Amino acid sequence: MEAAATELHDRADAIGPPAPRGDDDIMARLRRSTAVVHERVEASLGLADPDIPDARYRALMISFYRVHAVLEPRLDTLFGEFDDPLLDWPGRRKLGRLTSDLGTLGVTPAELPELPSTAVPAVSDVACGFGALYVTEGATLGGQLIARNLSTRANLAAASTYFTPYGDQVGRRWRDLRQVMRRWVGTDRARADAVVAAAIGTFLAFEAALS
Ligand code: HEM
Repeated sequence: MEAAATELHDRADAIGPPAPRGDDDIMARLRRSTAVVHERVEASLGLADPDIPDARYRALMISFYRVHAVLEPRLDTLFGEFDDPLLDWPGRRKLGRLTSDLGTLGVTPAELPELPSTAVPAVSDVACGFGALYVTEGATLGGQLIARNLSTRANLAAASTYFTPYGDQVGRRWRDLRQVMRRWVGTDRARADAVVAAAIGTFLAFEAALS
């Protein structure tokens, strides 16, 4: 998986327009700044374990739903009219898939208690939105591994559409997002700092909700 994901990144780097690269590149900064929390989340979830207990899987999917239920309407407001077609915000919504996965698991999402709105960082501007999107879209990379591990568990596999929302287009979707973010950040240090801070905040919100 690591090799396949790295290949995705390499391809993405080969195709995008000229943009800042090296240590200052926004995507490199995001990856570096969130590596520790990503590692913690990855290790604690148990989602890479093909023998994950059904109840644990159900609880995690409920938590993913509850975070997205707070986050997604905020991103709707922010990106509804964002003028870069490569972003394709509507195509990046995840609540529909989570609702369907929970339905498969016998859970009625509408009956779940809402997370307090403060459990997820505010999305007050585009930088916050991109920080959040980096996290939710990055999860589709690891999601491929998760879905593959669940493929022998028919009941769970049927409830894992959240992890593979783009099918074989996952590389292109990730590449498109990287391009949009690099374009928007450009060489603006303040924008880059704000995106990184938002990504860390969003990752921590997922970590807290999923633990
Ligand atoms: C068992 C759970 C998970 C596994 C095994 C996993 C695995 C991976 C892998 C293999 C990659 C590709 C790394 C690379 O390109 O070199 C990745 C990327 C990423 N994952 Fe996860 N992941 C998991 C959960 C999550 C979750 C829950 C989130 C968010 C809430 C997340 C966010 C990200 C992000 C943002 C990236 C992009 C990193 C970059 O900038 O390249 N992951 N993950």
